[in-house]
Amino acid sequence: MTDTTRCLKLARYAPEGVPDPASFELSVEAVREPGDGEVLVEVHWLSMDPFPRMCMRGEASMAPQLPLGAVMMGRGAGRVIKSRDVGFAPGDLVAGELGWRELACVKAEALRGVDASLGPLEASLGLLGPSGLTAYFATRQHAQPRAGETVVVSAAAGSVGSTACRLAALAGARVVGVGAGPRQSRYLLEEVGVTAAVDGLDAERLVAAIAAACPRGVDVFLDGVGGAVHDAVMGSLNVGARVVVYGLISSYGEGAGRADVGPRNLMRIIMKRARITGFLVGDHAAEFPHALKELGAKLADGSLVASQTVHEGLEAAPHAFATLFGDAHPGKQLVRLAAAPRNDHT
Ligand SMILES: NC(=O)c1ccc[n+]([C@@H]2O[C@H](COP(=O)([O-])OP(=O)(O)OC[C@H]3O[C@@H](n4cnc5c(N)ncnc54)[C@H](OP(=O)(O)O)[C@@H]3O)[C@@H](O)[C@H]2O)c1
Repeated sequence: MTDTTRCLKLARYAPEGVPDPASFELSVEAVREPGDGEVLVEVHWLSMDPFPRMCMRGEASMAPQLPLGAVMMGRGAGRVIKSRDVGFAPGDLVAGELGWRELACVKAEALRGVDASLGPLEASLGLLGPSGLTAYFATRQHAQPRAGETVVVSAAAGSVGSTACRLAALAGARVVGVGAGPRQSRYLLEEVGVTAAVDGLDAERLVAAIAAACPRGVDVFLDGVGGAVHDAVMGSLNVGARVVVYGLISSYGEGAGRADVGPRNLMRIIMKRARITGFLVGDHAAEFPHALKELGAKLADGSLVASQTVHEGLEAAPHAFATLFGDAHPGKQLVRLAAAPRNDHT
């Protein structure tokens, strides 16, 4: 018997701006039987991430182009139904590149197993996945904030940044979050619990705002933004400061003024004997199990929170995706598909 699945396919390219939900077409397609090394997954959750946006521009860019008519790419999590790979058995929970569909036949190498004892399945797409791990290693292993120190986190309202803020606060640090706009400042103060919030988009007041929010200077800077925010924070570094650069959101987009630039504050680094470190989470793969256990324990005891907005059903994916580039409530945007058990989370 051949199974079918509902899926969302890319119907038209969207070169710029907020992706129009009309760019996607709901469709039904046959699901093939898994071949050697493949696994059939019942998809429960879709993760909305910015990267697939770059694959639907219809022009060469930093990302490979998705052909029109292809199932929209995207990370997801679900349960194995059939497996022809020794690494997975029916019933296993998995996460990985599954695409916007309800059943996905994929290569086992595109998946990682999810330990259900660590937290709810959807957390494997955020706090107990790449963004939580990035925050964990950048903060705990590279920056190593100490009690009483001032830690500045940029892109603080994002998946990585909000967890980095919470981990730094758990270490006893005074945490200053740099977000994008007044709404994110409120979120950082009210939901993430930072000591002070700075609007990273308010270029004119940035330097003064950072200085005011960090009266004792900056001991640790976790930077996911680069550009003007980076320059402003570097001006307030203390002697012996640790700077971890893990992302450059300000230079990912297209257009003038967004090109990657070299450091313009080398004298500051010398005078403050500061340490600046580049960071890639993949370098820590061997330590993921240990880190996930600790993150899972903190999620269970409430000291870490998986901030998220849940959108219901496959049909909601285009809208949920669009909110990433518009006015989304800060936190992870997730889509719960019909097969997801209803008793695990609401
Ligand atoms: N090095 C690694 O191994 C690694 C691993 C994972 C992620 N990363 C990087 O980490 C960074 C954050 O990732 P994420 O998953 O947390 O992204 P995310 O959830 O999309 O969050 C990014 C946040 O930054 C905000 N933002 C944009 N421009 C800003 C500015 N000028 N000042 C302050 N905030 C600004 C965004 O606001 P809007 O939503 O309003 O735009 C959003 O809230 C990215 O650069 C990503 O590439 C690196």
